[in-house]
Amino acid sequence: MVSAEKEGKKDETAELARRRGFIWQAFEIYGGVAGFYDYGPLGAALKRRVEAKWREFYRREGFYEIETTTIAPRPVFESSGHLECFTDPAVVCKRCKSVFRVDEHVYVGAMCPECGGALEPSGEFQLMFQTRIGVTREGADAQALRKSEGYLRPETAQGMFINFQRLLKFNRDKLPLGILQIGKAYRNEISPRQSLIRLREFTMAEVELFVDPSEKNRHPRFAEVKDRIVPFVPNEGEPVETSIGNAVSTGIIANEYLGYHIGRVDEFLGSIGLPHDRVHFRQHEKDEMAHYAMDCWDAEFLSEKYGWMEIVGIADRGDYDLSAHAASLNIDLHVRTETGKVVPHVIEPSFGLDRIIYALLESAFYEEQLEKETRRVLRFKSDVAPIQVAVFPLLNRDELKSKAQEVFELLRNASFFVEYDSAGSIGKRYRRQDEIGTPYCVTIDYDTLEDATVTVRQRDSMQQVRVPIQDLKTALV
Ligand code: ATP
Ligand code: GLY
Repeated sequence: MVSAEKEGKKDETAELARRRGFIWQAFEIYGGVAGFYDYGPLGAALKRRVEAKWREFYRREGFYEIETTTIAPRPVFESSGHLECFTDPAVVCKRCKSVFRVDEHVYVGAMCPECGGALEPSGEFQLMFQTRIGVTREGADAQALRKSEGYLRPETAQGMFINFQRLLKFNRDKLPLGILQIGKAYRNEISPRQSLIRLREFTMAEVELFVDPSEKNRHPRFAEVKDRIVPFVPNEGEPVETSIGNAVSTGIIANEYLGYHIGRVDEFLGSIGLPHDRVHFRQHEKDEMAHYAMDCWDAEFLSEKYGWMEIVGIADRGDYDLSAHAASLNIDLHVRTETGKVVPHVIEPSFGLDRIIYALLESAFYEEQLEKETRRVLRFKSDVAPIQVAVFPLLNRDELKSKAQEVFELLRNASFFVEYDSAGSIGKRYRRQDEIGTPYCVTIDYDTLEDATVTVRQRDSMQQVRVPIQDLKTALV
């Protein structure tokens, strides 16, 4: 749940992100449409690097990646329960007619955030975008229209459930079976007013882990996470900072599989650079849970602007989805295991990548006052920074430029994300790289031509050291 914006606090993150080409409002020249954002070159590079790390992280768990369609016919979402349950309550302002999603700040009885008018209920609003698959004739009857009804997926997960039989076969009929998918999801959000946080088209990175329910308390690699200390906000009792092992053994977390994946999510978020003290895990209230979940923990990030906001949901979906599809289709999705024939349970870490990008931008941003100016910096980790190293000739002279080009190509060929810049004063070039989060700048000067060394300037400390060109690849990590 994303709390309302902290009053009056300017979204400096979004402003810098726009100015420097990370993200901007989609359809800007047509006036923009709320809930749609485009990623520019730096934003797209940052996102791709986070995605690559995510893929690698879960590939190491032995999971398989698939890619399924983003549109599905009506029966899929009839079975999954989304047609009936994937709705949000809305309220409408009696005076200015603005419509809002009901949350802890906006409800019947509260005042309209736009004009202060009275709010009244406006019913449940279906969040899925509807479309038509194929051509429908004018005057087609209700049956034909219903047959052509399609929906843009609100989660990537259903693609993994409806392919379960094939995937299980691919895994030689064995559980556990871990499937992952990164892709677009669509929700026609009622009040998409918060930058990358509440979008109508966004990227999800999801894992569906199918497991024998009788094995949920025996994760084979639980020892790897059990000592990790994590702040928990359970739906009963007080918030507590404790180890995953202790949380499972005292019943705060229901089983080892859920605990294991909470631990891995925490590890992943740290590995891309989110500060540990701004992330906690909050258990859903019983009446807050999605229609398919038997338990759910959200990894929430503490935003300076928006308060605690969900960035990852880790749900125990039980056998809800497989049983629902099996019942609708009258098929058997039991799996034979050592303990009998079971319908697998699903543990699902579901990452919202755009919210993670927002959290990364916000937490990486800092300003410091230097003697004559304010320095703005994005402190990205080197392994997610859109540009890892910038190469500059100190002066705009041919002999320095050609040597700088040589160093630029050397680094690019060594797979660094590297940029060449010769425009403007060296100070301005440093500031620009600080603002876009480049950890290192390499400057070529006349000494370089003599002794094959360069100046390496580190973004955070601004310290400069002299490094031989031949050692650059190892110095820039
Ligand atoms: P919220 O309560 O904030 O609406 P949710 O509970 O609906 O979120 P989930 O359905 O659990 O979110 O979705 C899984 C993840 O997808 C979330 O953790 C979030 O990071 C991301 N997500 C969900 N809705 C949006 C959205 N409209 N825009 C961007 N990311 C989203
Ligand atoms: N697949 C998780 C969600 O949509 O919430």
